[in-house]
Amino acid sequence: MNKDFNYSNLKIGIIGGGQLGKIMSQKAKKMGFHVTILDPTLNCPAAQVSDNHILGGFYDKEKLEELVQQSDVTTFELEHIDTSILKELYEHGHKIYPSPYVMELIQNKYEQKKLLDKNNIPVPKYKNVQSDDDLKAFGFPVIQKVKMGGYDGQGVQMLKTVEDLPKAIKAESFIEELIDIDKELAIIVARSINGEIRCYPVVEMLFDDRVNICDSVMAPARISKEIEEKSIEISIKSIEILGGVGIFGVELFLTKNGDILLNEIAPRPHNSGHYTEESCATSQFEQIIRAVTNLPLGSTKLISPSVMVNLLGEEGYEGEPFIEGIHDALAIPELSFHFYGKSFTKPFRKMGHITVLDDDINKALEKAMKAKDILKIKGSKKYE
Ligand SMILES: Nc1ncnc2c1ncn2[C@@H]1O[C@H](COP(=O)(O)OP(=O)(O)O)[C@@H](O)[C@H]1O
Ligand SMILES: [Mg+2]
Repeated sequence: MNKDFNYSNLKIGIIGGGQLGKIMSQKAKKMGFHVTILDPTLNCPAAQVSDNHILGGFYDKEKLEELVQQSDVTTFELEHIDTSILKELYEHGHKIYPSPYVMELIQNKYEQKKLLDKNNIPVPKYKNVQSDDDLKAFGFPVIQKVKMGGYDGQGVQMLKTVEDLPKAIKAESFIEELIDIDKELAIIVARSINGEIRCYPVVEMLFDDRVNICDSVMAPARISKEIEEKSIEISIKSIEILGGVGIFGVELFLTKNGDILLNEIAPRPHNSGHYTEESCATSQFEQIIRAVTNLPLGSTKLISPSVMVNLLGEEGYEGEPFIEGIHDALAIPELSFHFYGKSFTKPFRKMGHITVLDDDINKALEKAMKAKDILKIKGSKKYE
């Protein structure tokens, strides 16, 4: 178990079987590795392409142990997991990357922010919340965030004035100043076991205002060289501070004043890096497999500009998914279509994505928006 990797018979364990786990599995299989995933849902996306599926939840210590025991190396597609058993196994020499200690730190957005702030990474002003008085003293408007368990805009809300206090989230939380955002940027950073670091291009995330969910990603971002360099510098420094191994999605705010602030870090392949599969020399999904198996990292070179659009479940529908407009959309040149194989759609659920390439990023955006208008993920049940 603790010896060097045997690449001709390598067993990879992945905690989480959603779309990220699915594409990671596909890349591991491409390299000839054996893949076992852990996920509570029968026939989840990754189960459709991996060798083994351990049916179990992410807080099920026995199942987590079973996965780690039968894998040469274990990695993650999500951060909301029990770390206690993983820490024990890690201490006994099992290979788990990123380490459960890094996962634990990142799980708590407040602790994550504190560590980065302490190490001089620029972040929005923030404060722990213990009572309504803390909220009032900070002033309004303010962004409230739960410390643990938030994702895709869940667990983040704006309190505009003191009148919004009754709707403050009751879970353990902290507050941040409301940033006047010019652009939301992201960078995928890969770090290998021996500390080698590679950055992907800086991208621009566009959001669906209705639900605060990342809707499309433009690669490369339309920013100056100076902003690009600053973003890369902050991202690399942050991952060095964390000391993590694997793939990290670093979310940044470019403010209207031209400052770069770090928002948060995801310790796994990230939605903002889907484009790398068609657009870069090595995809983020192959890169994480390389990073956690001590192989050299691949080139992160941008081969073509692209725009990625998430295919979210249409509002007003749920149940068995039904894709509308696939023939017209796939007739658009240089468009790549991904559907995750989830058996159930609901409003705003991530069901698939498209990546559209073009030498001209604005043309890629035009084609991607056309495809977005055509493609609809509806469901077997309709609501009024
Ligand atoms: N301090 C802030 N000021 C303005 N907008 C923010 C702030 N923090 C978060 N947001 C908005 O909310 C979104 C979700 O917040 P984030 O902390 O990234 O949580 P999640 O885990 O849901 O991704 C961000 O992408 C951004 O659009
Ligand atoms: Mg985020």
